[in-house]
Amino acid sequence: MESMKILLVAAEMAPLAKVGGLGDVIGSLPAALVARGHDVQVLIPAYHQQLTQGLATHVTLTTGRGRIVESNHHDLPCPVWLLETPGFLRRRGRPYLNKAGEPWSDNPIQFGLLSRVAADIASGNLAMGWQPDVVHCNDWHTGLTPVWMRLQGAAPASVMTIHNAGFNGCYPAQTLERLGLPAHLYHPDALEFYGSLSLLKAGVIFSDRVTTVSPSYAAEIQTAEFGGGLDGVYRARSGVLSGILNGIDYACWNPSTDPVLHHPFDAEQTDGKSHQRQQLIRELGLAFDHNHKAPVIAWVGRLTEQKGIDLLLHALPQLMQKNLRLVVLGAGDKHWERELLKLGKIHQGRLAVHTGFNEELAHKLYAGADMLLMPSRFEPCGLAQLIAMRYGTVPLVTPVGGLKDTVMDGDPKSDAANGLLISAPDVDALLATVDRALELYDQPQRWQQRMVNAMKLRFEWDQAAAAYEALYRDALKERMKGHSLRVA
Ligand code: ADP
Ligand code: GLC
Repeated sequence: MESMKILLVAAEMAPLAKVGGLGDVIGSLPAALVARGHDVQVLIPAYHQQLTQGLATHVTLTTGRGRIVESNHHDLPCPVWLLETPGFLRRRGRPYLNKAGEPWSDNPIQFGLLSRVAADIASGNLAMGWQPDVVHCNDWHTGLTPVWMRLQGAAPASVMTIHNAGFNGCYPAQTLERLGLPAHLYHPDALEFYGSLSLLKAGVIFSDRVTTVSPSYAAEIQTAEFGGGLDGVYRARSGVLSGILNGIDYACWNPSTDPVLHHPFDAEQTDGKSHQRQQLIRELGLAFDHNHKAPVIAWVGRLTEQKGIDLLLHALPQLMQKNLRLVVLGAGDKHWERELLKLGKIHQGRLAVHTGFNEELAHKLYAGADMLLMPSRFEPCGLAQLIAMRYGTVPLVTPVGGLKDTVMDGDPKSDAANGLLISAPDVDALLATVDRALELYDQPQRWQQRMVNAMKLRFEWDQAAAAYEALYRDALKERMKGHSLRVA
């Protein structure tokens, strides 16, 4: 099969810049595409000078829009272009929010530049010596790329992946002019969104293909409940909209080789997990439980209402009366951080709270906890539950989006279950599922079965890359026939 040139453009790429799962995806998908024989390049912003200084192989070029620094660092899966602009550099490693937790005021302008540079590369306007067949955009930050590509008459096909429809990149109508876009795009069939602009809508309307990161989420965003005001647009694009489930990097998330762990383990030999658990309990100053009756429940994730952090807080007084210990690792809204830290002091020994981003502790939690709690209101895919399962940490999740597509609860007779479902994102349902999990945990054989089932599951990137490959080819074929939909 013929190899394609693919440009991936995004706001994050692990390990260079990661706030959440988007970073993981852009950190992993390129390697899987390269392994399938494709020529891949990534374009991301440089959020601090050290990044480009540390990684630069050579300065490619300085354009009116910023400096593009290329890195071919051996730890990267493919060459990466880092866009340096004064606005991005000023962020000192904080991609979206300033120190006070407020969005950077120049977000639309900076990400507008990122999108414009991606389109310039696609159109061959920059002397990069490389032009893609396909441009794969991710989330609202890159939503203007397909728009600029259309305006410039760029030949490559474009794909827009929605990792989170909850953020639709909504900005005042005047931003259109500041972005240098023509006034006619302020139109309900283009960028206009209830009197403002939506950069995500732009990407959805102007790209050749639209994907979400799980099949269930592709269906959900077409409903008023999950569409964030764009459900009508998603329905209008349903013919080119599909869901491709994310994978995880099984080399990085591997309990038998994870360098952070002192007691490796795997699905055949799970003893190491109990040792990791004991170590975690010691390290976090949690109360010991010699007869192994009180499970450790972990939360690893952004502290937002999307993830149901408010539900956890409301349920906490009752949870603390149960025979369990809870560990929260999360960053996000300062209000939730303060609230959690306060409660951590009150319930010392039963509740450990760590705010901020801590990759090493995340590994220890996935390995040492018994359960992962993820009561999300919506979840485009969710990687935390996939990682947890790999480490035999049984996920307790709401049946939405990617959680519904990856976690299976079971009737008492079924032996295929790998997690527990919380019937709805509310406090009563959450508490009822925790009670059910405690009962199950009390039956070591049944618990072990669910744990091992989870550990054996695989969500491989190669599978996702194969699906993207087919989608890119479709989009390209259609482009060549000149059938591409022109909306405005
Ligand atoms: P989302 O992208 O919505 O935040 P995902 O479950 O898809 O959620 O991905 C979250 C990723 O970020 C996972 O790799 C998870 O381990 C990681 N993560 C989230 N919060 C933290 C944190 N405070 N410290 C370390 N890793 C975190
Ligand atoms: C988003 C979603 C999450 C998904 C991730 C990677 O941040 O909230 O569900 O796993 O993107 O696609």
